[in-house]
Amino acid sequence: EPRKKSSYEIITLTTWLLKQEQVGTIDGEMTIVLSSISTACKQIASLVQRAPISNLTGVQGAVNVQGEDQKKLDVVSNEVFSNCLKSSGRTGVIASEEEDVPVAVEESYSGNYIVVFDPLDGSSNIDAAVSTGSIFGIYSPNDECLADIGDDQNLDQVEQRCIVSVCQPGSNLLAAGYCMYSSSVIFVLTIGTGVYVFTLDPMYGEFVLTQEKVQIPKSGKIYAFNEGNYALWDDKLKSYMDSLKEPGSSGKPYSARYIGSLVGDFHRTLLYGGIYGYPRDKKSKNGKLRLLYECAPMSYIVEQAGGKGSDGHQRILDITPTEIHQRVPLYIGSVDEVEKVEKFLA
Ligand code: AHG
Ligand code: MN
Ligand code: MN
Ligand code: MN
Repeated sequence: EPRKKSSYEIITLTTWLLKQEQVGTIDGEMTIVLSSISTACKQIASLVQRAPISNLTGVQGAVNVQGEDQKKLDVVSNEVFSNCLKSSGRTGVIASEEEDVPVAVEESYSGNYIVVFDPLDGSSNIDAAVSTGSIFGIYSPNDECLADIGDDQNLDQVEQRCIVSVCQPGSNLLAAGYCMYSSSVIFVLTIGTGVYVFTLDPMYGEFVLTQEKVQIPKSGKIYAFNEGNYALWDDKLKSYMDSLKEPGSSGKPYSARYIGSLVGDFHRTLLYGGIYGYPRDKKSKNGKLRLLYECAPMSYIVEQAGGKGSDGHQRILDITPTEIHQRVPLYIGSVDEVEKVEKFLA
């Protein structure tokens, strides 16, 4: 006899995760890793929302492996994420936008999951209090890379082995998600059974299930590209971009929406439909976004919602990274919209 749902039933992320573990979709170790990630996101949300008060706006004064001037919150959110994952005891290796190489986690004593993340996405927006986010992906453990983390084992050799184990195609992802720090704090997660959306209730600091099995509209007339790069794009892409401005049979052209945070632009695209693109250009041969911890997790999520993630020619999830911070062009969103740009680029 299925349990009757009480009229006032709130499903929190914690109870939702325990349910997925109970039915066997995830194991107990993954439950703990995902729970530690949600804790990191709650901590980052509170840091982001009080940044101007706690002197956490502005630059750190260092340049990261990407060649970007790190914001203070880039560094702090990376530490928050790393600490939460390390103390989970179930994370074997972490790879972050803000770490030069993967970090083998000595504290892990079981599970050994591989977690890749962008601790603060859209960080150029932080000083203006525009939406930012965190993006993560989880791969299955790869124990041999962690073998021999003995006392005398030289960690760079371990790190080299771990680079190989981290560089997996997005099709291997077991879970992916993001947290968006915006007018609401929104935690979006897939463990391969559809896309679930949780909203932080600040009254008691829990993520509450607010949308289940999200499906992205098959088409949508909103496009998110940084057209400031138009002059650097190749001709096929220019013709695609020009075509969006023609009124066409519907009499209405597309609308442009671009906030400069992948998480914010993606979340709107997921719910409203449309396309987000970061193409290659004459200056950036492979575009700007990183395959491992931006493009692959977002592509896993969008496919779980019935959408597409492409580099303009192939499925993002089929690309195996050759190095941790590899960049790829990204076109992601409604099937009809991604297929439209792929036709122009063929
Ligand atoms: P990050 O802040 O993690 O480095 O990512 C920034 C990315 C992405 O979030 C955003 O969509 C894009 O950079 C914006 O790039 P432009 O400012 O070049 O448009
Ligand atoms: Mn960055
Ligand atoms: Mn990013
Ligand atoms: Mn970032």
